[in-house]
Amino acid sequence: MDRKKMIERLNDLIQLDVDAVEAYRQVIKHLEYDDICRRLRDFQDDHQAHIQKLRSLVMQLDGRPIEAKPDFKGYLLEGFTMLMSASGSLGAMEAMKANEVITNRNYEKAAALPWPDDIKSVILDNYSQEERHLNYINDIITIPRHPLR
Ligand SMILES: [Fe+2]
Ligand SMILES: [Fe+2]
Repeated sequence: MDRKKMIERLNDLIQLDVDAVEAYRQVIKHLEYDDICRRLRDFQDDHQAHIQKLRSLVMQLDGRPIEAKPDFKGYLLEGFTMLMSASGSLGAMEAMKANEVITNRNYEKAAALPWPDDIKSVILDNYSQEERHLNYINDIITIPRHPLR
């Protein structure tokens, strides 16, 4: 991959993580369970850390990190907004799940690209945290007797 392509891909991931931080902010507002909120705040912090690490990589490549603002694209925006307004805490968690599925899919794609080792290890690291986020949310949504239901 040439330098320009790498910078572009890294900036795409920054945008994705910025969207995730905003999604968590909205979801946390709608959740009534402190224990879950605490976990989600940790996940939000993970995404902030991803953004910082990705920005450093872009600068290391002599690129300019994008000044990303939340910018949910297409169906994600619609689906997310719809779910958020639908049904309280469970709707909020379903919306967050949809967001994390997309985040995970994009990290998976990014991880498959031919990066230099140091960049690859950051991306794999971030990706493994994304998997953890999605697993937790899936667990909460599917536990039959969780008060969320
Ligand atoms: Fe992230
Ligand atoms: Fe995540």
